[in-house]
Amino acid sequence: MKVIIYSTKDFEIPYIERANKKKHKLTFVSEALNSKTALKAVGYDAVSIFSGDQASIITLDKLKDFGIKYIALRSAGYDNVNLNTAARLNIKVANVPSYSPYAIAEHAVSLLLALNRKLIESNERVEHFNFDLNHLIGYDLNNKTIGIIGTGRIGSIMAKIMHGFGCNLLGCDIEENKELVDKYGLTYVALNTLCKQADIISIHVPLNGDTHYLINEALIEKMKKGVTIINTARGAVINTEDIITGLENGTIGALGIDVYENEQDLFFKDHSHEIVNDDNIIKLNAMPNVLITGHHAFLTDEALTNIAETVIYNLDCWGDNKNTENELTNIITKVTPT
Ligand code: NAI
Repeated sequence: MKVIIYSTKDFEIPYIERANKKKHKLTFVSEALNSKTALKAVGYDAVSIFSGDQASIITLDKLKDFGIKYIALRSAGYDNVNLNTAARLNIKVANVPSYSPYAIAEHAVSLLLALNRKLIESNERVEHFNFDLNHLIGYDLNNKTIGIIGTGRIGSIMAKIMHGFGCNLLGCDIEENKELVDKYGLTYVALNTLCKQADIISIHVPLNGDTHYLINEALIEKMKKGVTIINTARGAVINTEDIITGLENGTIGALGIDVYENEQDLFFKDHSHEIVNDDNIIKLNAMPNVLITGHHAFLTDEALTNIAETVIYNLDCWGDNKNTENELTNIITKVTPT
């Protein structure tokens, strides 16, 4: 199969080539897929995209015209693909549902620890031989209550890790996981209750019509004063402006994010020599109690290996005229597109 890989980052090429074993003819391009760059897909059977690419209605229509039959996502999240349109156009779409939930959950914990214990600021001081300890006070995780919103693959690992820290676990999900209740004593509660009771909130739901701006002003007002919020899911699950207000008025004590609502125009590129025209990221960057990473929770050796192998597996299935169990166009009835 001839495959064009959009949004290629240098570090993933060896993983993809190793998994491919020269079976498919791969072309790597650094540009993201959108309605303009879709033209590059002329002459290919399949495209592979990542979370910053946009497979909107217009883009999918173009891909269909150019003869694209398959879209192999290199991500678990698929909020950037209009699945209803892909199904209507008979373009098959598959994701990598579980490449390493550990990578993401461990990154969420890293954000929490670094924020709480002020590791970045402490290290910056030490680099200047400033060993002053003022303003570096954190809190024990032991006995704190963590609210996990979305207890699927990643949220479950988060629950397991935080149980190890001695936290009390609250969960909120449309489907309950009995194992988390039995093994780790997690209690399922309504979102409102979770927000009222949690000292730490970690978000692990997919972005869709139901979860868009799930965390908003009304909910933030109910939160415990000084709550720490961690978001490694998708930026638009939280309303960024409302979060900034919550940080400014002190309701939110700390925020750790690996994803950002407007990351599409920012992340995965070096903007250090430009004037960044995004007031929200400028405000967030300026706050000492905010820690931002650029969507790199998935960046572990194991995750990159699994992503590459699953992408090639999905392409192999399609090349052999078989279905892959990772096909998303089969589950569109469950999905509310954003
Ligand atoms: P999953 O599908 O295993 O779990 C998601 C959970 O959210 C499910 O249990 C589901 O029932 C629940 N859920 C869905 N809608 C809900 C709602 N309205 N209210 C409450 N719960 C709801 O997905 P997984 O693998 O745990 O990934 C979660 C998300 O993490 C992905 O959708 C993706 O957006 C994000 N992600 C971020 C990465 C990063 O690099 N920062 C990497 C991988 C995933």
